[in-house]
Formats: sequence, C-alpha cells, structure tokens
Amino acid sequence: MAIGDHLPCVLVCGGQWGDEGKGKVVAYLALKYKPKIVARAGVGPNAGHTVYFKGKKFGLRQVPCGFVYGGSRILIGPGVLVNPEVLLKEVEETGIGDRLGVDRKCALIEPVHIEKDRSSEHLKEKIGTTGTGCGPANVDRVGRRAKLAESSPELQPFLTDVPSEINEALNERALVLVEGSQGFGLSLIHGTYPYVTSKDTTAGTMLADVGVGPTKVSEVILVFKAYVSRVGAGTFPTEISQEEAEKLGIVEYGTVTGRRRRIGRFDFELAKRAAMINGATQLAITCIDRLFKGCEGARRFTELTGDARKFIERVEEETGVPVTLVSTGEGIEDIIDLSRGKL
Ligand code: IMP
Ligand code: MG
Repeated sequence: MAIGDHLPCVLVCGGQWGDEGKGKVVAYLALKYKPKIVARAGVGPNAGHTVYFKGKKFGLRQVPCGFVYGGSRILIGPGVLVNPEVLLKEVEETGIGDRLGVDRKCALIEPVHIEKDRSSEHLKEKIGTTGTGCGPANVDRVGRRAKLAESSPELQPFLTDVPSEINEALNERALVLVEGSQGFGLSLIHGTYPYVTSKDTTAGTMLADVGVGPTKVSEVILVFKAYVSRVGAGTFPTEISQEEAEKLGIVEYGTVTGRRRRIGRFDFELAKRAAMINGATQLAITCIDRLFKGCEGARRFTELTGDARKFIERVEEETGVPVTLVSTGEGIEDIIDLSRGKL
C-alpha cells in the first residue's frame, strides 16, 4: 500500500499502556510527509506527548505533536475532551493559533471534573488516574450533561467541523495524519479493566474521534516502546523491580503527572493482541537506544547491535506486521526509517 493506492489517512496509535513515544513518531512523519492535516484523536488532556523540536522540549496534552510541520492544519476531533485552559497554554507555547481548529462537539473539561477526579478515592487511589478530569467529563458526556466546545467563549475563534475538513482533504487525496493517545492496554473495552482510561483507545475509536470511516484508512501505525512502562495501578505481567530497571538504566517519569513509571520487559502477548485489534499495518519501535546500549542515534538498521536487530525481527515474527520505524534517540531525526517511503 502506498500513497495514491488508497485514501491517504494514516493513524498512529499506542500498543502498550501509553507513553510509547507516539509524539516523536508523529512529529517525524509530519516533517517527512508534510500532511495537509494533523488531527488529534484519543481521550483528552490526560495524555502527555513529548517531542524535542528546535532545541526545545514540548510536553503536549492537547495539541498534536505533528504541529512541528508548519504547513499542516491542526485539528482536534469531536471525540476528544478539551480543557480550554490547557489547550490555550499549548497554543501559546507552540504558536499554532492561526492553524488550529477545534470541533464544535468536543466535550469540555471543567474544574468540577478535575475536582471529582482528584477527590474520588476510587479514581485517584485505586485506579491511579492522571487527575485531569477526563473520566468525570466522559461520565457527563454519556449522561448528556457535558458542555461542548461551541459554548466556550475562549474557543470561539477555533471552532470548526473537523470531520468535514478531514473528509474533504481525503477526497482531494491529501494526506491526513491522525494522532491517537494512550495505548491498547488502557482501553476501556480491551484493556486491563478496571485499571484503564475512560474510553476505548484502539484504532476504531480513534477514527470515530475524528469522524473518519474505516474504509478511508490507508495505514495503522502501532507504536511500541522496546520495553513496557505503566503509570497507575493494574496488571502488568512483564513488570520488573525498580532496582532491575535502574540496573538497565531505565527510569521514567510521567509527562502529565510526574509519577515514576513502572517498567517491564517487552510483552509479546500484549503486542500480538494490540496488533490484531488495531489492525496494524506497520509498527514503530521506540527507545531502542535505552534498552540496547550502542544503538544511540543509529540511522540505519545495520548500525543497530545484533541483540537489537534480533529483538526487532522477533517482534515482526510474533505480530506478523513489519517494523518500519525504529527510534534511536530523543531528537526527531534519531530514527531508522525502513519504510522505503511507503506510508
Ligand atoms: P485517566 O485516563 O486519567 O482516567 O487514568 C486512568 C489510567 O490511565 C491511569 O492508570 C493513568 O495513569 C492511565 N493513563 C491515562 N492517560 C495516560 C497516558 O497518556 N499515558 C500513560 N498512562 C495514561
Ligand atoms: Mg505520555
């Protein structure tokens, strides 16, 4: 499959428990393929997507990391929860105000939702949510009480019809990149319930989030980290102790919450299931340099260590899906692109 064969709608989604490095992958694809639109799908500002761009670290929760390509229209789909305060701060930080569109139907996160998320023993203590109000806001959406973006005075300048913009672009055969959030294991339907987020996080729902039908998708790029991390409570079959993780040199903190992430070995069973349920057509593997010393900054497959190469081949064998991107460092250009221009 290549651009031209199908409508070029490419979806990037997470295959583990979030924090797989989707932000970096989307930023790379945006700079390489110059999409007409980059659209954010997923739950809402509970996500933290990190990208290092022009010497600056961006930890974004609402604006998609594809903003790095200055020629893209930046859209937030109607399924995504919006906290106007968080969004406006990121608009200022990224300077994308003149190309941002927020769907009129995005439900709003209000202070009361954050308060409920943080004061509920069940959510905060048992589940270990991000405390960003997403769960309670989705409860209000389902209860048909939530306020929508169209009622927010601050969001007026950005309001638009995201599904129409995207589908018009696809009809012109322009490239649309959809950035998902969270990961497969956090899906309300497919994840480790009840230790999950407040919505399904797989490709099907991400498409609904932005208003694109399943027949219009050309590629689903599923992102895995070379190991697994998890913040908050819940099953984690391949988890290792903090001491063991430290010995491997892997210590991570959450972008949104600053909590220390639990670390585990790559989970092939989880990966297989994530590839199946997301209908993955390509895989991206990130942080290979953190697990396999000597791979830092590699730009070619042959520059990877033998162990790293074997690992990638095993991921392909077990999932039956080709690995087309391998991230080898923090910078957007620290990547091995095995796609041969195929998107
Ligand atoms: P909530 O999404 O804030 O309700 O949190 C529910 C669970 O999902 C908790 O375990 C969170 O740590 C986790 N979670 C939500 N968003 C992310 C994310 O973007 N990265 C990693 N974990 C997340
Ligand atoms: Mg994150």
